[in-house]
Amino acid sequence: MSAPADSRRRVLVARILLPAGKELLAEECEVVEGGLDVSGERLRELAPGVEAIVADPTVPVGDELLDAAGAGLRVVANFAVGYDNVDLEACRRRGVAVTNTPGVLTNATAELALALTLAAARRTSEAERQLRAGGWVGWDPGEHLGLELSGATFGVVGMGRIGRRYAELVVPLAGEILYASRSRKADAERALGATQVGLAELLRRADVVSLHVPGSRETTHLVGASELRAMRSHAVLVNTARGSLVDARALAEALRAGEIGAAGLDVYEAEPSVPAGLLDAPRCVLLPHIGSATRRARDAMARLAAENVLAALRGEEPPNRVA
Ligand code: 8YV
Repeated sequence: MSAPADSRRRVLVARILLPAGKELLAEECEVVEGGLDVSGERLRELAPGVEAIVADPTVPVGDELLDAAGAGLRVVANFAVGYDNVDLEACRRRGVAVTNTPGVLTNATAELALALTLAAARRTSEAERQLRAGGWVGWDPGEHLGLELSGATFGVVGMGRIGRRYAELVVPLAGEILYASRSRKADAERALGATQVGLAELLRRADVVSLHVPGSRETTHLVGASELRAMRSHAVLVNTARGSLVDARALAEALRAGEIGAAGLDVYEAEPSVPAGLLDAPRCVLLPHIGSATRRARDAMARLAAENVLAALRGEEPPNRVA
C-alpha cells in the first residue's frame, strides 16, 4: 500500500534549509525543497498551493513566483537579513507577509568585515598566493607592504546592527570612528566616540571605509568612480553588505590606478558571478559571500526563518516582519 499523501500545509523552501529550521517546519508542515541549483522554472512548478516560501538572496521573489504559488500563499520568509531579492510591493498587493532573519548574523557578518579589513590592509591574499605558487624566494623588506591600522580613521557607512557591531570591534584599533547614516546614532556616539559626517566627508577622511547599508535602488552604486577618486590613496574599502553598493568596474580601475589602497569584498552584483576585472585587480581580497557563514549564525537564521513561517501560518504576527 502506498503511503497516504501528506495533507498538511505545504511550505516551499526555494533552495535548502539547514536542519535547525527544516526539522522545526517538518513538525507541522509538508516541506518541499527546490535544491541548491533550482531554476526559476522549477520553482514555479513546485509553487502551486504552498502557503509559505522560504527564499534567500539568490532567489528573486516577484509576480511570477507569487502568481505560481496562488492565493493561499501567506508568507515569504527570507533566509537573510537583507531582502532586496523580494518585491515587497508585489507581496503587499497580495497580502503576503515578508520576513527576514535580523540580529542572529550581526556578529558573524561584522567579524567577517573585520577579517576583510585586516586581510585587505595587510594584503594577505596576495602574499599567500605568492607563497603557494612557490614565488617566495627570500625575505624582502620592501615587499607586501600594507597599511597599519592602529590609530586609523575608520568610516562606517550605515550604523545599523552590523555597522554598529563592526564599529565596536574596531574601537581598540581606531584613532577615530566616523559614520554616515540617515539618522543620528546618539548611543554609538556616546559609547564608541563615533562622529556622524556626510558620506563625502567620510570618504575623504577615512583610512578604512566599511559598507553596511542595505541594497536598494537608492544605494545602487553608492560607491562609484567619483567616490573612489575622493578616497585616500591608501584607503581600504570593505563590502560585506550587497554587491550593488559598489560599481565593480570602477573599483577594479581604481585599484589598478592606485586611487585607493585595497579592497575586501564578500558580495557582488550578480552572484555567483565575480567580475573579471576584480579577479585580476591588485590588492583585492575576494570571498564568496560568507558573511553569515558561522555554524551559530546559520543555524539561528534557519530557526528564525522557520519560526516566522510557523507564526504566519498560525495566523500570528511573524516576529521579523518587514512587509
Ligand atoms: C546571506 C546575507 O545572504 O543575511 C544576508 O542578508 O547576505 C547573508 O546572510 C545568507 O547567508 C544567505 O545566503
